[in-house]
Amino acid sequence: MPEALAPLVRNTIFSGNIHHIVQADSTNSVALRGALLAGQHPEETPEGAVFLAEEQTAGRGRSTHSWHSERGTGIYCSFLLRPPMAPAEALWLSLIAGVAVQDAVRETTGQAADIRWPNDLLINDRKFAGILTEMSSEGGRVHHAVIGIGVNVNQRSFPEELQSNATSLRMEGGGTELSRLDVAAALIRALDREYRALLRAMGSPIRTPALRFEPIMRRVESRSSYAHGKLVHVDEDGGYNGITDGLDPRGFLRVRTDKGLRIVISGSVRPAERKTDAPGS
Ligand code: BTN
Repeated sequence: MPEALAPLVRNTIFSGNIHHIVQADSTNSVALRGALLAGQHPEETPEGAVFLAEEQTAGRGRSTHSWHSERGTGIYCSFLLRPPMAPAEALWLSLIAGVAVQDAVRETTGQAADIRWPNDLLINDRKFAGILTEMSSEGGRVHHAVIGIGVNVNQRSFPEELQSNATSLRMEGGGTELSRLDVAAALIRALDREYRALLRAMGSPIRTPALRFEPIMRRVESRSSYAHGKLVHVDEDGGYNGITDGLDPRGFLRVRTDKGLRIVISGSVRPAERKTDAPGS
């Protein structure tokens, strides 16, 4: 796989640094361990190392969820980065990764994916990819960050407990088997583009610190049907409903509720049912 991938990802920050693993516990854990072992010698796991596994035995999702990681069907990969940012800014890494997955899917399958803030990728309202960003910080700066991306590519079915919400590119694309290599290569190229754009935006001297991420924010907003005007239920602070109203300058989701504007920090969102009056009431 790395030999076949190399020519497809030439000139990206990830080229020359792709590790193919037959079976990993979790590619995020592999990347985090690699970065920790490198310790004071970051050149040993440089920015841009990629860990791609055929199978994960302990794939991790957000919160306490696991990630279904059956052998040879999906893409399970983690990207090690050393962005010059504060830990509170790391949400942008997840958000740009969502845009990258969306682009890779459009390029390789023609399918239009939606981003459900902050890091679920959906087709026809079912989830086919997820992103888990983890990091280690030191002195108020990110020391290293790992963006873990799982993409359901060729699965034809899922375990019962996932069936109502999960899908794969193959299932949404009429059952034709896809090349995981092509999707992985497109994903690596797209993440390279988005990461460079993020670094450029951060380094721009014309922006005040509060507005540094504005171009990225607009880009993410334009790619997600969840960003504006969507009635959602937020699983945070006991749960509440509201209408989404864009991202704030930190990348958090703004939601207008009956009681005013609320900012979703880490809760998950899903479409809410519109209240209908009971018949006869
Ligand atoms: C989520 O939607 O909850 C995030 C899922 C992230 C899964 C990927 S698969 C590659 C990487 N390794 C992991 O253990 N998790 C991420």
